[in-house]
Amino acid sequence: MNNHSIALFASGNGSNALNIIGYFKENPTIHVAVLICNKKDAPIVQKATDAGVEVLVFDNEAFENGLTVLQELDYRAIDWIVLAGFLRKIPTNLINGFPNRIINIHPSLLPKFGGKGMYGHFVHQAVYDAKETETGITIHLVNEEFDKGEILAQFKTPLSPADTPALIAQKISLLELSNFPTIVERTIKNQQQ
Ligand code: GRF
Repeated sequence: MNNHSIALFASGNGSNALNIIGYFKENPTIHVAVLICNKKDAPIVQKATDAGVEVLVFDNEAFENGLTVLQELDYRAIDWIVLAGFLRKIPTNLINGFPNRIINIHPSLLPKFGGKGMYGHFVHQAVYDAKETETGITIHLVNEEFDKGEILAQFKTPLSPADTPALIAQKISLLELSNFPTIVERTIKNQQQ
């Protein structure tokens, strides 16, 4: 079996990123090689460092240009990118450099509650306002259209009228933590030639 190196991209708290780092720690063929962040004071920077993962922080200009990021990924022979709570748009050169090899997680059942401005608590608030009776997560490949790449998996959870946006966030977090790493692993294993 081939070896695979993941670059995790995260912008904030990083509970999903840290969970993925832990999940692949003992994996013989898939490992998290680097964590890439766009905010130097994001909690995930310290958490990933403490977990023994190299961290690279790029400013917004570097992300928009994409070239330096691409070079750093090439240098580390990265073959998969996993977006785990990464809040910037991925530039075209990165998408083209990793065709069908960028995985994102979105905290709703896409195509519902996706697109520009739909992230974090905005999603949970919108789900609440729409009086949805269920919500969930979508794990998908990234292409040039925001939140519209091929869906790899969706997981659902029922909602009751008592579920406030904060409670919805908790339900979503549980779904993400228990399902994201296994879908990443399955996707990588399925795509190897
Ligand atoms: C998650 O809900 C994820 O679906 C979304 O951003 C959130 C990140 O949370 N894309 P965390 O940083 O992993 O705690």
